[in-house]
Amino acid sequence: LKIMRARDYDDMSRKTANIILAQVILKPTSVLGLATGTTPIGAYEAIIRAYERGDVDFSQVQTFNLDEYRGLANDDPQSYHYFMRKHLFDNINIDLDHVHVPDGSNADAAAATTAYDQMIEDAGFCDLQLLGIGRNGHIGFNEPDAAFSTGTHCVDLTRSTIEANARLFEREQDVPRQAYTMGIQSIMHSRMVIIAAAGDEKAQAVRDMCQGPVVPSCPASVLQLHPNAVLVADELALSLLS
Ligand code: F6R
Repeated sequence: LKIMRARDYDDMSRKTANIILAQVILKPTSVLGLATGTTPIGAYEAIIRAYERGDVDFSQVQTFNLDEYRGLANDDPQSYHYFMRKHLFDNINIDLDHVHVPDGSNADAAAATTAYDQMIEDAGFCDLQLLGIGRNGHIGFNEPDAAFSTGTHCVDLTRSTIEANARLFEREQDVPRQAYTMGIQSIMHSRMVIIAAAGDEKAQAVRDMCQGPVVPSCPASVLQLHPNAVLVADELALSLLS
């Protein structure tokens, strides 16, 4: 796991964006794995600015998002579909037929998740997967567990994740209790992984990911085994590394 140190959130965002931009510039048909959450918003803004300058073309890019709440319509303002359109897709020249997010509106979990894995495989897996990290070390919605998950699947969200995500909903009881997420194996299939992290509330998870044992109780620790994973993190998130 390579570590790229950033001063603060803005610096982390620019560094993350630059890696994604380089990927797309070098391979215009790239398959990108994308994340939602607070962490990548600044990187998406930097990507949009580069697009507006004419530095990059997304017309042939395909994307697969990590996860989606189960039970929300795709146009629900709390859905990850909506988030991605607002923060990235509606502001660049990506073909919306090339963007994929698990279908949270499909109540049939087996059908929704199997179809998603098939699409990722048909696309030849991701060239680059962008990840954030949860305070408990989750990646995607792969929560601490007794074993590493494999492909896309349906998960029950933990208390800590529901509480962390409640800030984005009007009331905590509105936060969905389940989600569809790519599994650890899907993430490990990506040829490059970028983990973005900022803020001291991520410091313990970053430490466990980088310096703890590789264990499913810290799902992100599996990235120590990935041949091409880069952590881009600010000083606060790196503050507990020894
Ligand atoms: C989002 C996702 C989650 C987040 C993580 C950190 O698609 O898969 O694993 O990356 O919960 O969220 P933020 O960035 O909001 O701290």
